[in-house]
Amino acid sequence: MVVNQFRPSLLAEPLAQEKLAGMKILVVGSSGIIGSAVANALSERGQDIVEVTHSGEGLTVDLSDIASLKELYDKIGKLDAVVCAAGVAQFGPLEELSDDDFTQSIENKLMGQVNLVRCGIGQVTEGGSFTLTSGGLSQKPAAATTAVSMVGAAVEAFVKGAAIDLEGRYRVNVVSPGWVAESRIQIGLGPMPGIWARDLAEYYIDLVEGLQTGQIVQAETAKPDGIP
Ligand SMILES: NC(=O)c1ccc[n+]([C@@H]2O[C@H](COP(=O)([O-])OP(=O)(O)OC[C@H]3O[C@@H](n4cnc5c(N)ncnc54)[C@H](OP(=O)(O)O)[C@@H]3O)[C@@H](O)[C@H]2O)c1
Repeated sequence: MVVNQFRPSLLAEPLAQEKLAGMKILVVGSSGIIGSAVANALSERGQDIVEVTHSGEGLTVDLSDIASLKELYDKIGKLDAVVCAAGVAQFGPLEELSDDDFTQSIENKLMGQVNLVRCGIGQVTEGGSFTLTSGGLSQKPAAATTAVSMVGAAVEAFVKGAAIDLEGRYRVNVVSPGWVAESRIQIGLGPMPGIWARDLAEYYIDLVEGLQTGQIVQAETAKPDGIP
C-alpha cells in the first residue's frame, strides 16, 4: 500500500527508467536479512551491486559516523542508486530507555540514513534514487517500541520533505517492512504473520527501478501476483 500519491510529472526523464539493467547500486546492510535479499534480487535482474556491511570483509561503513559515509562514497565513485537496509534503533519500555538509547537510535537509524542521502548528493548520478528503510512500527507503535517508532517515523517524514527539495534531480523513497519471516524464525516464532525477505525485496526493486519519489511503501505481505 502506498501512503502518499505518486506525482509522475515531477521527474521529466529519470535515468532509472532508461537504464533498467546495469545500474551501479550501493546496498548498505548487504549482509543482513533484508539487505542480502535485496542485493541478490537486484543482482539477478542484471544490476551491478556494491555491497557494504558494518563489520564484514569487504567495503564497510558506520552509518552513525558521517566521516565514514563520506569516505565510502569517495571510495566507490559514481553510483546510479543507493539502498539502505541498515539502521539500528533501541527497543525497550519508555521508562527504561536511557539517554544513550535515544541518542544511538537517532544517530544510527535516523541520521545515518539522512546523511546517506545528504552525502550521496553529487555522488549519485542525477536522475538516480535513494531507497531507505523504516518499519511498520513507525505508524503502528507497540509496547516497548517508542525509540524505534520515533526514528522510523522521522525517516518517513525526511523522505517526504527531501523528495520535494530534490524534485527532478533525485528520487527518495522509503520501504516500511512488516515483521520479516526470517527474523521471526530467528527468535523462535513461526514465520507468519510476516513477509519473507525475498518477497520484501520486490518492493525495493520497484522503487529502485521505478519513477516514484516521496513514497512511503508499506510492505507487510507479499505483493499479490500480477500487481505492479
Ligand atoms: N527484520 C525485520 O523484521 C524488520 C522489520 C522492519 C524493519 N526492519 C529494519 O530493516 C533494517 C534491516 O533489518 P535486518 O533485519 O535486515 O537487519 P540485520 O539482519 O541485523 O542486518 C543489518 C545490516 O546492517 C549492517 N549494519 C549494522 N550496523 C550498521 C552500522 N552502524 N552502519 C552500517 N551498517 C550497519 C549489518 O552489517 P554487519 O553484518 O557487518 O553487522 C547488516 O548488513 C533495520 O533498520 C531494521 O530496523 C527490519
